[in-house]
Amino acid sequence: MSKIKIAIQKSGRLNEDSVKILKDCGISIDNGKDQLKAQTRNFPMEVMFLRNGDIPQYLRDGIVDIAIIGENVLIEKGKDISITERLNFSKCKVSLAVPKDFEYNSIKDLDGKRIATSYPNTVNEYLEKQGISAELHQISGSVEIAPNIGLADAICDIVSSGSTLFKNNLKEVEVMLTSEAVLAVSPKISEDNKKLLEKLQFRIKAVLKARN
Ligand code: PRP
Ligand code: MG
Repeated sequence: MSKIKIAIQKSGRLNEDSVKILKDCGISIDNGKDQLKAQTRNFPMEVMFLRNGDIPQYLRDGIVDIAIIGENVLIEKGKDISITERLNFSKCKVSLAVPKDFEYNSIKDLDGKRIATSYPNTVNEYLEKQGISAELHQISGSVEIAPNIGLADAICDIVSSGSTLFKNNLKEVEVMLTSEAVLAVSPKISEDNKKLLEKLQFRIKAVLKARN
């Protein structure tokens, strides 16, 4: 019998809640720690634990059928991938922030400035729409350190509680988008696995309804 392959985040803010929603759907994952591919009980499913940023490409290639992923990652790298369910957890913003003492009045203040980010496409698109051009420095983590080490004048990153901004003496000045965890689907999913997806979604909808 066919099994539906699902990608979930290996580590990070979505991991725990992704495992939890599957569990609430009655699906338990048999995995030893550090096992990147696991089988499940009570549902024909295989789970792959992957890096966030790699998931859109796995979906595109049909290596996985579905994924639980932050919508922000799809906006950055997977605009062609469709979303079949919003999951109502891991809510966050993707925002621009500047040092607290930066006298910020409008986005024009960032014209010609250096911005550090892990979301270059999202920032570029946002700035372009406003007719602003900035110099982007792409880094993959600890973005909030950039202004303090002289690498950038501003940053763009995920804001959840706001505590990382606060601790690094930064203030949020523009919210570019809001995001939450979503269930995304590969364009290459087979007909058999589409049926499994329908069954899974039926359970997910019931879980989400019960949580409200
Ligand atoms: C994420 C994100 C922000 C922070 C936002 O970083 O990149 O820095 O969390 O959360 P907060 O508003 O609740 O502080 P993470 O800790 O995952 O590390 P990384 O940037 O090194 O990947
Ligand atoms: Mg960070």
